[in-house]
Amino acid sequence: MSKIKTLGEFIIENQSSFPYSTGELSKLLNSLRLAAKMVNHEVNKAGLVDIIGGAGDVNAQGEDQQKLDVFANDKFIQAITNRDIACGIVSEEVDDFIAISGSNESNNGKYVVLMDPLDGSSNIDVNASVGTIFSVFRRITPVGTPVELKDFLQPGKDQIAAGYVIYGTSTMLVYSTGDGVNGFTLNPAIGSFYLSHPDIKIPKTGNIYSVNEGNYTHFPQGVKKYIKYCQQEEDERPYTSRYIGSLVSDFHRNMLKGGIYLYPNSTKNKEGKLRLLYEANPMAYITEQAGGKAISSNQRILDIVPSNIHQRIPFYCGSTEMIEKLESFLKN
Ligand code: AHG
Ligand code: MN
Ligand code: MN
Ligand code: MN
Repeated sequence: MSKIKTLGEFIIENQSSFPYSTGELSKLLNSLRLAAKMVNHEVNKAGLVDIIGGAGDVNAQGEDQQKLDVFANDKFIQAITNRDIACGIVSEEVDDFIAISGSNESNNGKYVVLMDPLDGSSNIDVNASVGTIFSVFRRITPVGTPVELKDFLQPGKDQIAAGYVIYGTSTMLVYSTGDGVNGFTLNPAIGSFYLSHPDIKIPKTGNIYSVNEGNYTHFPQGVKKYIKYCQQEEDERPYTSRYIGSLVSDFHRNMLKGGIYLYPNSTKNKEGKLRLLYEANPMAYITEQAGGKAISSNQRILDIVPSNIHQRIPFYCGSTEMIEKLESFLKN
């Protein structure tokens, strides 16, 4: 049997393929890996300790924070700030961007990290899968100066890494640094992630559509027509409907099996619900790296120039042929 590679070994081996590699991105990925293990440990015992339920606060989005939202946020911020590699963080759970001051009080880090520390948090109380999403950019402002808002408002195509962790039946970390997508499964007995899904590719087409159909009446016409198309008896249709309500889980399933994920704008959520910087962008980057397609109402997600850090956006991603079919409905 050939030797199974750990995530740590994989990061070191692939370090030289990063442009301008100095090993710092590797260190950053290692700190995310560490925080993921801590959150995994907490999620796993969620029913046993006092970690289920609301934290009593409301975040920048007006959502009730769950205790695990707060825990995951703290752990990821700690892990990222512990090393002089990132100069700033945007988190779903924090109103403003966080400027990290390095050991000598200036910002020596080259990177900014944007994250959804716990995705799908409404699933925690019922023991369904949740996740973490992260996105990494090189800063625009010079190293050694304070990080600025513009460092975070870069279009998604300039990401240098993105990934997610899924705390599911097993826990996986899936990421890309611009050279394909690789998935690693945690062996909880040993506490190490192992390369289990090398070079993931999204099937060109599939038979799963994932959308919160309860909002159907509020969707744009084109989306309604596309959903009807998915349900029609013709060729390979009707498609199967699968929706967990945790982007990471819904995305992960469709990436492995082939499918389409939709979170449209609606008369209720005029901008859509998902956040561009730490939900849509990283997932779009992974989608494209895996050979799929990710769009908003009428453009590629990765081309959008953000205007604020908690900006929401209609989001559609998945198998290329399915997204192209959706586009034909959205155009009409
Ligand atoms: P979060 O838990 O990070 O706030 O994200 C919730 C998002 C996403 O995970 C999920 O796909 C979507 O909200 C579900 O929304 P609906 O319940 O409206 O379907
Ligand atoms: Mn939330
Ligand atoms: Mn989320
Ligand atoms: Mn979240």
